Amino acid sequence: MKQIDVATTASVPNRAGEAPRLSVSNVCKAFRIRKGASQPAALLQVLKSISFEVYNNEIVSLIGESGCGKTTLLRIIQGLIHHDSGTLLVEGQPVTGPGRDRGFVFQQPSLLPWRTAQENVEFGLELQRMSATDRAARARKLLQLVGLGDAAEQFPHQLSGGMQQRVGLARALAIEPALLLMDEPFSALDAQTREVLQKELLRIQAETHKTIVFVTHDLDEALYLSDRIIVLGARPGGVKEIIEVPFGSNRPELPLLRGDPRFQALRSRIWELISNRPTL
Ligand SMILES: Nc1ncnc2c1ncn2[C@@H]1O[C@H](COP(=O)(O)OP(=O)(O)O)[C@@H](O)[C@H]1O
Ligand SMILES: [Mg+2]
Repeated sequence: MKQIDVATTASVPNRAGEAPRLSVSNVCKAFRIRKGASQPAALLQVLKSISFEVYNNEIVSLIGESGCGKTTLLRIIQGLIHHDSGTLLVEGQPVTGPGRDRGFVFQQPSLLPWRTAQENVEFGLELQRMSATDRAARARKLLQLVGLGDAAEQFPHQLSGGMQQRVGLARALAIEPALLLMDEPFSALDAQTREVLQKELLRIQAETHKTIVFVTHDLDEALYLSDRIIVLGARPGGVKEIIEVPFGSNRPELPLLRGDPRFQALRSRIWELISNRPTL
């Protein structure tokens, strides 16, 4: 098979001198677990010396097989779990707990069932004590942005899974976070809805210039969405390689992109890294 030359590098081009939005440096995490009631507690090393940076306006994916610690790492960045060692900075400030500078989109939309779409989007703004008029205006604008301008008064049970996930995205964007953290947000959706929402996410990112850390185990999704991909090895998850995705901001849609030899070469490379097996 002909070798395609693709850049796989740990350095970030064109960012010299720029302060990163997120800086993760030598982060380690182990959980204390008990295999049985009579067994002594043992340490399960989940993350091993993780280092990477994310810059303004980037979509950076974390990819790795199930159980390698992707969610744990995202929750550490969110401030819900404390890391054991290493440094974690968001806009230069150490992460000590959850904050308004980080928005989160989960695999399940987890909307409040007794609130309309708009009231769900307003939730974080209520906690910030924003006035009712201002938060209604912002929520309406964001529902328009995610393509739900007509669904503001609908309750979650009246919305499809894809629409609920759009509300979840609007809710996360409402607090105007410096960093948007997304944990496999489209993996519970059917294939067609997933492709629509992936495309929508690129459009929304182009409009809002949000900086996004996106967790996935889907190679095609990572290659379609990302500017860079952090490949994590099996548990304990360490950074195996940081891959520069060369398709730029006007990339073709996924079905077309799959025909690009660089896509195929990078896909094989990531697969090889994740599975620890040479490509067939
Ligand atoms: N609170 C916890 N206590 C003990 N073990 C945990 C906890 N959270 C996650 N783990 C373990 O850490 C490993 C990584 O989990 P996770 O971060 O959810 O992986 P991923 O998101 O990559 O599938 C798994 O083996 C999981 O069982
Ligand atoms: Mg996970």
